[in-house]
Amino acid sequence: MRTIISLIATLLIGAGVNKAASDEKKVIRISTDSTDLLLQVGDNGRLYQTYLGPKLLHEADTREFDWSRHAATDGAVSRRGWEAYATSGNEDFFEPALGMTHADGNMTTYLYYVDSSSEPVDGGIHTRISLRDNKYPLDVTLNYMAYPKENVIKTWSEISHHEKKPVSLWQYASGMLYFDKGEYWLTEFSGDWAKEAGMSSQQLQFGKKVIDTKLGSRAAMHASPFFEVGLDGPVKEHSGEVLMGTIGWTGNFRFTFEIDNVGNLRVIPGINPYASAYKLDADETFTTPEFIFTLSYDGTSQGSRDLQAWARRYGLKDGDAPRLTLLNNWENTGFKFDENILSGLMKEARQLGVDMFLLDDGWFGNKYPRRNDRAGLGDWEATRDKLPGGIPALVDSARNAGVKFGIWIEPEMVNPKSELYEKHPDWVIEQPDRDTYYYRNQLVLDMSNPKVQDHVFGVVDDILTKNPDVAYFKWDCNSPITNIYSPYQKGNQGNLYIDHVRGIYNVLKRIKEKYPDVPMMLCSGGGARCDYEALKYFTEFWCSDNTDPVERAYIQWGFSQFFPSKAMAAHVTGWNKKTTVKFRTDMASMCRLGFDIGLEKLSPDELAYCRDAVANWKRLSPAIMDGTQYRLVSPYDTNHMAVEYVDGTGNTAVVFAYDLATRFSEKLQRVKLQGLDSAKRYLVKEINLMPGTETRFPQDGKILTGDYLMKIGLDLLSSRQKTSMVVELTAQ
Ligand code: DGJ
Repeated sequence: MRTIISLIATLLIGAGVNKAASDEKKVIRISTDSTDLLLQVGDNGRLYQTYLGPKLLHEADTREFDWSRHAATDGAVSRRGWEAYATSGNEDFFEPALGMTHADGNMTTYLYYVDSSSEPVDGGIHTRISLRDNKYPLDVTLNYMAYPKENVIKTWSEISHHEKKPVSLWQYASGMLYFDKGEYWLTEFSGDWAKEAGMSSQQLQFGKKVIDTKLGSRAAMHASPFFEVGLDGPVKEHSGEVLMGTIGWTGNFRFTFEIDNVGNLRVIPGINPYASAYKLDADETFTTPEFIFTLSYDGTSQGSRDLQAWARRYGLKDGDAPRLTLLNNWENTGFKFDENILSGLMKEARQLGVDMFLLDDGWFGNKYPRRNDRAGLGDWEATRDKLPGGIPALVDSARNAGVKFGIWIEPEMVNPKSELYEKHPDWVIEQPDRDTYYYRNQLVLDMSNPKVQDHVFGVVDDILTKNPDVAYFKWDCNSPITNIYSPYQKGNQGNLYIDHVRGIYNVLKRIKEKYPDVPMMLCSGGGARCDYEALKYFTEFWCSDNTDPVERAYIQWGFSQFFPSKAMAAHVTGWNKKTTVKFRTDMASMCRLGFDIGLEKLSPDELAYCRDAVANWKRLSPAIMDGTQYRLVSPYDTNHMAVEYVDGTGNTAVVFAYDLATRFSEKLQRVKLQGLDSAKRYLVKEINLMPGTETRFPQDGKILTGDYLMKIGLDLLSSRQKTSMVVELTAQ
């Protein structure tokens, strides 16, 4: 039977390749309103990228590709370099997108064009290109989804085969992009706990620069899954050509940037194949994560706006829905609370004017109560002595206080000191005969095991079945995968890192299907999970446990490169008490606003200020959450930061301006606004003022034209330390 299948497959392969010959020179055009990505079948029947850049005006020009630009030094025109999905073992001597060992041990793969099709999908055009090996029954489909209006392209690949035995995949990129420029400058986003998404730049030179993670579950703790490449010099905010890319993968990812012998750059985003030689059975399809990118010709600010607009429309769960302001208790109480304390906090939430109270870690575990992070994780029953009425009593208290109730979970993890671990030691990723390394005293459940997936789904399902009024989840993930070994995978350990992440998605899909309207916050010991695949299921992510407003300026600036404000959660806490409550609140107000502070720590004026700030935030959320963002003054380039949001009508705008580490008598630049209507006249008003303080804003109360505001600007900055100003603009 197998032999007949292979014979048919071989005949079909032949047919595909013959067809390719007739499609020789076929051009596939993937376009947005401002960008073209052109792929063309070469005279050898293989598929090459011929162009990626600003949109071409004339269709005929898309065929005028100068192949000699792509010739390697030996003059082998179209035979080396720029293959759309380069494979291993052929004449391309640089990093491939696909590398595999076939069932017979052969490590070469040659992909030939078979056919392609395009169809309209929600917001864009989906192009599928089929490629096939001419010697092995191996198929690769390249997918490109272009969103014209937002100038965003999403690409991913599907790999399948009908070989007699499983094949081993050891490179499986989501896609591949090439550039032919004089200089390439990479901006990466790296850090650690409490210092997420720190930006740094370097010029790329011959060879490879790799950004990757091997952390498995808390995967983005040291490197965020996004990057920028300046294509004519270091990236700039308001000018220059820049590639901005991000991968939707909540596990180990890898970005490879390689400059070849002729100075061309290839960018290869994908899952990190580290310890992941993937055994792929015949007739199964390996689907790579989506790589989402934009090319901006006006610097990162425009690229961010395009990505943010795309995210709100297509990338983010409930991207068009409002967000809930909240009071959290983690920074305030830690593990020390009971029913009484919580019902008091719910009343405080009401006093602040926020929508919800969010109960954090420490509410569960009976045999091993969760009094600290050393026990109880995995046992999702309310601790009886702490919370005798369980979740139902808390939901009732919240209802009585007039706020919604949300709850923290970390369902993919387990403390060894838990009933779950006692019952199911084989559900855990752990080396049976070696010393175990515990990160935060916990271990990661093996999400590749369907039984574990059922358990994790059950955590959410059980809470919501018994308490349908639970309005929100904060889903945490505090440990990387240590001691990598799955009893479930047995001889297929190479599949574990990948199937683990796919298992998480299986669970999230089930939750979204059954509870489509429950918002969830993605959290990972701060911001170590922040990718667009997870954000199909989460309405927002927690940027960082570092809520010091000065540090937050940099963290939020970093994340804002790729995410809209409504995806980014920020709370006012007691971090950096040397700064005022106003400064802390104004910093959190440029994201989804929340609080995590006891009201007894606020003076009556501060409380009045916070209530006012919450009301202002809600009123202005069409601009802050759903409007267009303009990053005006960078904390990386100056001692200040200013960010502006303009609502969809162009009639309301709000500007947040912050003085960070200012210098004595430094020269202060006026801040020129953007995105306004030059012809309109705007009332300019400082808001979020502390009770009893007078505005020091020179233009307060003036009516100024959009033209003036954008050409002359406002005196929003000061040389005082750690101060902030929030200004509302209303078209008259
Ligand atoms: C890490 C999160 O980032 C915090 O906000 C908090 O939820 C703790 N985990 C709880 O353990």
